[in-house]
Amino acid sequence: MLIRNKQGWEISENRATSEDVFLNRRHLLKMMGIGGLIAGGSSLAFPGIPGAAETDPSAALYPVPRNDAFVGGRPITPEEISTTYNNFYEFGSHKNISKAAQALKVRPWTVKIDGMVETEMEIGIDDLLAKMPLEERVYRHRCVEAWSMVVPWSGFQLSELVKLAAPTTSAKYLVMQTFEDKSVASGQKQFWYPWPYTEALTMAEATHELAFMVTGMYGKPMPKQNGAPLRLAVPWKYGFKQIKSIVRFHFTDKRPETFWEKLNSREYGFWANVNPEVRHPRWSQATERDLETGKRIPTLMYNGYANEVASLYKDLGNERLFM
Ligand code: MTE
Repeated sequence: MLIRNKQGWEISENRATSEDVFLNRRHLLKMMGIGGLIAGGSSLAFPGIPGAAETDPSAALYPVPRNDAFVGGRPITPEEISTTYNNFYEFGSHKNISKAAQALKVRPWTVKIDGMVETEMEIGIDDLLAKMPLEERVYRHRCVEAWSMVVPWSGFQLSELVKLAAPTTSAKYLVMQTFEDKSVASGQKQFWYPWPYTEALTMAEATHELAFMVTGMYGKPMPKQNGAPLRLAVPWKYGFKQIKSIVRFHFTDKRPETFWEKLNSREYGFWANVNPEVRHPRWSQATERDLETGKRIPTLMYNGYANEVASLYKDLGNERLFM
């Protein structure tokens, strides 16, 4: 459990997996005569919810219990905003990709775990979900472009996947890769981007309690535009580290060059920790625009998670930790 003191900016959360979402889900399942876990292939509709997973066999797993140790510190951003204002360059280099992303097929979905591990493996997403302890956490989400939101993510701690993978002691980095398929993701036809989207964490970061594999949001399976069926949330880092629609976890002793680093390492580095005092070369990071209110609010050190993560970086003096 994360032991932490309540920060001054924190207020109580009551909009995560709101009671009506919970009750509606239960009601829907009851009406359909579905009690427990639905084994593969069932389909549920989520009318009126933008980009919701209409035919997601994991639907009956949600909502998952909320872990109250993780609060966002300000109101949850409405679902209509966080599911329609997105960055997912595979589907276009603008925010309005939620419709285009519906072309992504999220079943079958196989995840490969390889590199410096005891035994390499491939595992289907539903088998992986069945092995993992699912919970809901409310996290702040801060993009390097200086907009932000607060999102109730469902998923499991990344350290659980690391445990399953059983990396060898030589592994120093966990590299994650997004799917590659030009036939559904027209953005991948833009050859000047270094596809597939790749991100990485050190092993200390990947096994940190805050590093979270997201499989759902707002008490439902993950919408495609937000990175179904599996995306990363590391809330003390800028949003571009939070890789979507992951198909591969690769353990290595070599630090990889990540997608944005390859494109422009001066502006988007490996560490990408949030720091209001370190400017992006083209704009200040001192404040951020809350997507619900449109108001600018002060950005916090490590996006408000300094107590938890600052110690990860204490011996890395020469690194560009905030870029
Ligand atoms: N993952 C992939 N595969 N492709 C992307 O373009 N964009 C990143 C990150 N993950 C991106 C990605 C960026 S820049 C941000 S800010 C977040 O996803 C946005 O997540 P959201 O759309 O769920 O808010």
